[in-house]
Amino acid sequence: MRNFNEQTITDAVIQRFSSSTEPRVKEICTSLVKHLHDFVRDVRPSYEEWEYAIEFLTRTGQICDGNRQEFVLLSDTLGVSMLVDAVNNPVGGNITQSTVLGPFYVENPEVFPLGADIAGAMRGTPAYVSGSVSSEDGSPLGGAIVDVWHSDDDGFYDVQQLDKLGGNAGRGRFIADEQGRFHFWTVKPTCYPVPTDGPVGEMLNAQGRHPWRPAHLHFMIHAAGHRKLVTHVFDRADKYLDSDAVFGVKDELVRDYPDHPPGVAPDGSKRDTTWSTIEYDFVMAKAG
Ligand code: BEZ
Ligand code: FE
Repeated sequence: MRNFNEQTITDAVIQRFSSSTEPRVKEICTSLVKHLHDFVRDVRPSYEEWEYAIEFLTRTGQICDGNRQEFVLLSDTLGVSMLVDAVNNPVGGNITQSTVLGPFYVENPEVFPLGADIAGAMRGTPAYVSGSVSSEDGSPLGGAIVDVWHSDDDGFYDVQQLDKLGGNAGRGRFIADEQGRFHFWTVKPTCYPVPTDGPVGEMLNAQGRHPWRPAHLHFMIHAAGHRKLVTHVFDRADKYLDSDAVFGVKDELVRDYPDHPPGVAPDGSKRDTTWSTIEYDFVMAKAG
C-alpha cells in the first residue's frame, strides 16, 4: 500500500498493527492513532509548530529526574490526571472521593505515634488534625495506615527545602486506633504554585493561566480489604478552590480550617499562640 493522503493514512496505520496478538495494545493504539490524526487534521500545524511541539516534549523529558516529573505535571495541568482518576473511581454512595497524588509523596514515610507533632522545622500556625477511617458499611477500620503530607506556610514541601529544614517535615504515617481514629499536630498549609520553571510553566503562561493550587493536606490511606484512597482535604477559605491549576477540587473534600485563640486544645495540651483545627472522616470502598 502506498500513495496515502490526508484521509487514507489513518486506516493504513491502524491496518499495520491489525494482526497484533495483544488485544489491549490494539485497542489503545487504534484509538490513539485515530485521535492523533484527527487532531492534526483539525489543528493543521505548520512545520514550525510541529517542530516546536517535538522540542517542547523533548525538554519536558529532559527536565525530569528522580525528584522532578514534568510529564506528570503536564498531565495534571491538562486535566488528564483527574480524568484518569475519574474513570477509575466512579463516584457514588458515601465513599470519600479521590484526587491527584501529586509529585511530593515519599514512599515509606516515618511512622509517628498518634498525637505526635510532624511539623519538624516547618513554620506556620499550629494545626490539630483529627478524624477517622471507616468502611463503606460504617464499621471502623482500626489499624488503617494513614499517610499525610503537606506544604508549609510559604507554600513549599519539605522535599523542596531539605537543606533548610534539615530533613523531612510536614509528613508522616499514623496507624488508626481501634475505633479507626487518628490525630496529630502539624502546621496549617497554604496555597502554592506548581513548579513553573520548566516547559509546563511556559505552557501555563502561554495559556494565560495561573499556577496556584488551593491549600490542602494530602492523605493516602490503606486498610485491609479496602481500595487504597488517595485524596486531599482542602481549606474552605482558599481563594483558588475554583481555579485549581490541576483541577483536583471536589466539594466533598473541602473543610473549614478554623483558627482558635490561645487556650486548651482537644488533646488537653495548652497552646499559647493561635492554633487551628482540621478534621475529616474518611470512608473507604471495599476492595473488588
Ligand atoms: C500537589 O498537590 O502536591 C501537586 C499536585 C499536582 C501537581 C503539582 C503538585
Ligand atoms: Fe499538594
